[in-house]
Amino acid sequence: MDKKLNVAVIGAGIYGIHHVDVYNQSPYVNLVAVCDFSSKIRENIEKEYGVKTYSDVETMLSEEEIDAVSIVTPDHLHREPAVQCANAGKHLLIEKPLASTVEDCQAILETAEANNVRVAVDFHKRWDPTAIHVFNTLNDGDAYPIRGYMSMDDIVDVPTKWFKWADQSDPVNFLGIHCVDLIRWYMGCEATEVYAVGTKKLLADQGIDSYDSVTSLITFENGCNWVVENSWVLPSGFAKNNDGRTSILTTDNYIRVDNQDRGIEVFDSEKQHTPNVFFFNNFYGKVFGFGADPINSFIDCLINDKEFVADGNDGLQATKITEAIHKSLDTGERVKIK
Ligand SMILES: NC(=O)c1ccc[n+]([C@@H]2O[C@H](COP(=O)([O-])OP(=O)(O)OC[C@H]3O[C@@H](n4cnc5c(N)ncnc54)[C@H](O)[C@@H]3O)[C@@H](O)[C@H]2O)c1
Repeated sequence: MDKKLNVAVIGAGIYGIHHVDVYNQSPYVNLVAVCDFSSKIRENIEKEYGVKTYSDVETMLSEEEIDAVSIVTPDHLHREPAVQCANAGKHLLIEKPLASTVEDCQAILETAEANNVRVAVDFHKRWDPTAIHVFNTLNDGDAYPIRGYMSMDDIVDVPTKWFKWADQSDPVNFLGIHCVDLIRWYMGCEATEVYAVGTKKLLADQGIDSYDSVTSLITFENGCNWVVENSWVLPSGFAKNNDGRTSILTTDNYIRVDNQDRGIEVFDSEKQHTPNVFFFNNFYGKVFGFGADPINSFIDCLINDKEFVADGNDGLQATKITEAIHKSLDTGERVKIK
């Protein structure tokens, strides 16, 4: 690849800074601008990276030559900047979820199609080496999936300390979206029906109107039933910011994944830590790991005209499932997915 793309990042908060880091180092990218509402973030970007910043998407789009944009705004705020960029003909890498509602996903995808814009979704868990191994195990033989379980949970600091927008999202939109994307990818088919129950107690007591935990039963076209559990209230003393388990029973194998155990334990005077050393590593001036891979892959796919690993339709289908989970939570009924 000797071509370079001009890229911008919209939203450089906790996760957007990873996009900035990866683009800043990529030999295939000119990181031309970063847009964020926060003046503190903009000052830091200009100082640390020497990159021009904007507080307003339209101004950035009118002043800069841009080929592609990463959208890393809060879960419920993807639509507006995505539609603005698509209308300006910029290819999009949108953080998961593509959007929190099916209506917002469709608005993004329709605008992208009308403007010949390509859309990728950053479902980074697909690049996790364990997920790739599970995918290959399920797809390499004739094993027929019978039953699945997946959990993904965060410590309570995530909704209470990390974000100001926790009550605009929940563990389903923030974590469950990863689960339903991985399961669709593993199963190779769509979900047909959902039933979900949830609990609001701990976060509600702290004034955050969001579920502490949601348990969903999801049936897929191949007949495989999955239980998916997502919580935002693991105790702060847990050894990692998040926990996750998967187990899959097939006609040929029983697969179990423990996403907490990445082969390293660090003990300090306060607690045990089990860092996810596969996610983002910084070594010898290079950021790498399965967090960086989808961002580099987005650029590779644009330059070399390859299909995205996770595209706009994957984002839409995943949100159809999470929206059905919310409908089931609201109604107490089983919800069919069309
Ligand atoms: N935090 C994580 O661990 C994590 C991991 C994976 C994916 N994500 C995803 O990344 C996205 C962002 O999450 P975050 O944790 O970085 O949130 P954050 O609140 O730390 O950062 C969001 C940033 O977007 C900016 N912003 C919002 N709307 C904007 C707009 N229209 N124009 C310019 N700037 C705007 C805000 O000023 C803020 O700095 C979410 O969709 C989330 O699901 C987060």
